[in-house]
Amino acid sequence: MCDDELIPPRADLTEDQWLRDESARPAEGAPALRTTGRTVPWVNRRTLLGGAVAGAALGVLPLGAGDRTAAAATRGGAPGAFPFPERPNRKGEFAVLVTGDAGTGDEAQYAVAAAARDVCRAEGVELAVGLGDNIYENGPESDHDTEFQDKFEKPNAGIDVPWLMVLGNHDCSGLIPGSGGDPSRGDREVAYAATSRRWYMPERYYSVPLPADRPLVEFFAIDTIPWSSYVAQIDPRYHWDGPYMRGQREWLDGALGASRARWKIVLGHHPYLNNGKHGSAGAYDGFTIGNYTSGVHLKKMYEEVVLGRADLILSGHDHTSQLLEPTARTGGTRQVVCGASGKTGDGTAHFGHPAAWQNFSDHGFMLLKVSGAALTLDAYTVDVATRTATRAHRIRTTTPVGGVRAGAPA
Ligand SMILES: [Fe+2]
Repeated sequence: MCDDELIPPRADLTEDQWLRDESARPAEGAPALRTTGRTVPWVNRRTLLGGAVAGAALGVLPLGAGDRTAAAATRGGAPGAFPFPERPNRKGEFAVLVTGDAGTGDEAQYAVAAAARDVCRAEGVELAVGLGDNIYENGPESDHDTEFQDKFEKPNAGIDVPWLMVLGNHDCSGLIPGSGGDPSRGDREVAYAATSRRWYMPERYYSVPLPADRPLVEFFAIDTIPWSSYVAQIDPRYHWDGPYMRGQREWLDGALGASRARWKIVLGHHPYLNNGKHGSAGAYDGFTIGNYTSGVHLKKMYEEVVLGRADLILSGHDHTSQLLEPTARTGGTRQVVCGASGKTGDGTAHFGHPAAWQNFSDHGFMLLKVSGAALTLDAYTVDVATRTATRAHRIRTTTPVGGVRAGAPA
C-alpha cells in the first residue's frame, strides 16, 4: 500500500499558503499535521506523516561544471570506500543494481535488499543506484542522522559497492514531508557521502563514467526537485528559473554532449513518462498549470536536453516498476520507473504509455548490465515474506540512442 498521498489543493502554493489554505480545511475533528517547531491545526493531506522544519543550507560549495565529472574519477568518501569498477566483470559487463524509493527502514526495504543481495552476488554486481527518496519521510535531520544507518547502511549491508544516490522530494522536505520545499536539506546527503563507504553523492548533480579513462557507460545523476516540487520554492537560488536549475541544465547539456561513453543513462527521481498514479512530467498529479507541482519545466528540460541523447531515463517517485517502450516521441530514449524498493503502488495503470512490461503491485528492483555489445535490463519482483526475487522481464538493446562518438570503446 502506498502512503505517499501528498496532493496540494492547487498548483504553486508555497508551503505556508498550502498549510493555511481555507479551501483545504477538512471536517471538524480531523487530525492535525505534526511538524517540528509548530503544530498546524489542519491541512489538506490524506496522510499525516510527521515532519520537521528543514534546517538552513549547510554551505556545501558547488563544483564547477568540469569538476562534476572529474570528481567521479576519484571515488572519495570514507576511508575504505568501495571503489568504482575499473573493468567489466567476469561476464564482460558492468552490472548495476537499480533501486528506488527505498528508504523506509521497514521490513519491505530489508526484504528487497536481501533478495537483491543474492542476485548481486550471482550476477557480479559492482555498482548500485538509489533513485531518490532515500530517507523517508522528511529527509535527514543532519549530515550524521542515524536514519542514514537505519534506512540505508543496515538494510544494504553486504551490497558492498558504491551507490550512486540522487535526491528525491522526501529528501528535500520542507514543512510538509515530501513537499520538496527545502532543497537545501539535500546538502546533508551530499555531506554524508564523505563519511560513508557506500553512499556516493559528491554533489547534488554529477556524472560517473565507467571506466573513467575510456568510458563504456556514463551515468548522469540529476536533481529534479526544484522543477517538480509540490510547492513553490521560496529561496531564489532554487526557483525553477533560478541560478541553480539554469546551471544544472547547462551542465547536463554540456556533459551529455561531451560524453564519449557508448551508453548514456540519466538518473532522475521524477520520470518523464509514467503510467502510475503520479503521472508524467508536465501533468504530475493532475496539475497542468504553474511553474512547480506539474513538473512542466522538468518536461521541457527532458525534451530539449535528454531525449534522443540518453539511452535510458531511470526514475522513481512512483512506487511501481515500469519498462516503457522507446518511441518516436522520446527520440528513442527509454523511460524506466523503478520506485518499488520500499513501498508499492495501488495496483492500477492510470495512463497508457506503451510498455514492454509494468507492475503496479509488487516490490522490486532492477539489474542493468552494459557491455560493448548490448544494454540489458532485468526487472525483478520481490516476495517480501520469503525475501526472494523473481525475474519478471528482460529487455535488451544493441544500438545506442545517440550514436557512438569517435574514440568510444566498442
Ligand atoms: Fe518521490
